[in-house]
Amino acid sequence: MTKPARQLISEALNEAANPVARRWWQNLLAAANALYTMLYTFHWKSKGANYYSDHELYSRIYESVEEDIDSIAEKAIGTTNDDSFFDAAT
Ligand SMILES: [Fe+2]
Repeated sequence: MTKPARQLISEALNEAANPVARRWWQNLLAAANALYTMLYTFHWKSKGANYYSDHELYSRIYESVEEDIDSIAEKAIGTTNDDSFFDAAT
């Protein structure tokens, strides 16, 4: 059975002192930021017959990703008590 994402995040962050786990979380945060930017661009560039529905769909998705980015960054910093974690991922 698959573990919930929140449990996986929590377990991984408990290993944040481990350089491999730390780097993995930095990569995840960078990827989530890139995904957010990509979805926001798709939102702006929506056009054609499905303009409005596409525009709204991309909006909902990037807003969801934004919440995930916030959660990842806050838990990473809170768990490690190290704000350089965030700096290294941006
Ligand atoms: Fe918009």
